[in-house]
Amino acid sequence: MIKNKTRSASDKASEKTISPEAAAAGRRAENQEVAELPVKGFDYIEFYVGNAKQARYYYEHGLGFEVVGYKGLETGERHTTSYALRQNNITIVLTSALSPDHEVAEHVRKHGDGVRSIGLKVDDARQCYEIAIERGAVSVYEPRVQTDDFGIFVSAAVKTYGDTIHTFVQRKDYDGNIAPGYKLVNSWSGGVGLGTVDHVVGNVESGKMMEWVRFYENIFGFRVFQGFDASDISTQYSALTSRVMANRSGTIKMPINEPAPGEKKSQIQEYLDFYSAPGVQHIAMSTKNIIATVSQLKERGIEFLSVPRAYYESLKERVGLIDEDIEALSRLGILVDRESKGYLLQIFTKPVEDRPTLFFEIIQRKEGASGFGKGNFLALFESLEREQNQRGNL
Ligand code: FE2
Repeated sequence: MIKNKTRSASDKASEKTISPEAAAAGRRAENQEVAELPVKGFDYIEFYVGNAKQARYYYEHGLGFEVVGYKGLETGERHTTSYALRQNNITIVLTSALSPDHEVAEHVRKHGDGVRSIGLKVDDARQCYEIAIERGAVSVYEPRVQTDDFGIFVSAAVKTYGDTIHTFVQRKDYDGNIAPGYKLVNSWSGGVGLGTVDHVVGNVESGKMMEWVRFYENIFGFRVFQGFDASDISTQYSALTSRVMANRSGTIKMPINEPAPGEKKSQIQEYLDFYSAPGVQHIAMSTKNIIATVSQLKERGIEFLSVPRAYYESLKERVGLIDEDIEALSRLGILVDRESKGYLLQIFTKPVEDRPTLFFEIIQRKEGASGFGKGNFLALFESLEREQNQRGNL
């Protein structure tokens, strides 16, 4: 039997803000609280891809990003090609290798296209890097100072799960578009209303989630904002466990998922099998008008997970009064969840690569909603499983 979870919202989740494991994890005791690294928010997210030129077209014409920078052979960069794209406060960089023995090529060979770096905006990259290293983080590269006509740009990077890294990005004294070395190129502009990176989700191996919870607690000083267990997130077949790591100001939210035992293969395990490692599962991007944004994305050919019509028949009962037209939500397949404070609307794309790995979420938070759509987990996961089954991976 599929467990029936009609209890809506993330109400219950707040009770689990500090789970027993988290409480026991590392230096959570009051007198040993780890000072939080002063991270202001997400900076750019860099993808390593097989063909940046063609990936650019998808992000530009499909998802509504504008190209704000390019570097490659024409700019004197001999080893890689990168396109930087932006939509409001979201910046992504697409990088591919120009030779087979480059680390970017190796990353793509192993993982397919995927996220390499989750950039973190800071005022002092050197300070954050040094504190992180002192607390046990593994270095990817030491603070690097770059200058051009637009000012001074400083970055440094440490490892996180799998081959994924966090880059500390200091651009407070830099007025350029992205970073030194990039030149501006003409772009087909036309945003769809995506505003900020709301959260970035990582998938890790079974039994490893709490290690990464401790990593973010002990190195970054982040806390467990919410937790979800198999009882919250399971269907007949597959399950997962999740902890949302966040900074105090709420500008950084990074859920960490691991597979939980089920009758069949967890969607998280499917990801791990095809990505060949832990990595970023999805990036949620906010909008102030999800109906307009998703309508445009669909017109541009972006594919989303579908939701059975029955979901909308009980929607009003479940979420009460909302501003949006339920018929429009149903037509587009947008999910809704009521929380103790406000409500949220969300929809998920299908994986955006051939491998069933990375996908995107479009999310609109209303009246202060801060959760992750717990009331939608069942409908969402059943939809995911239908797709997983079609791929022969359930
Ligand atoms: Fe999400």
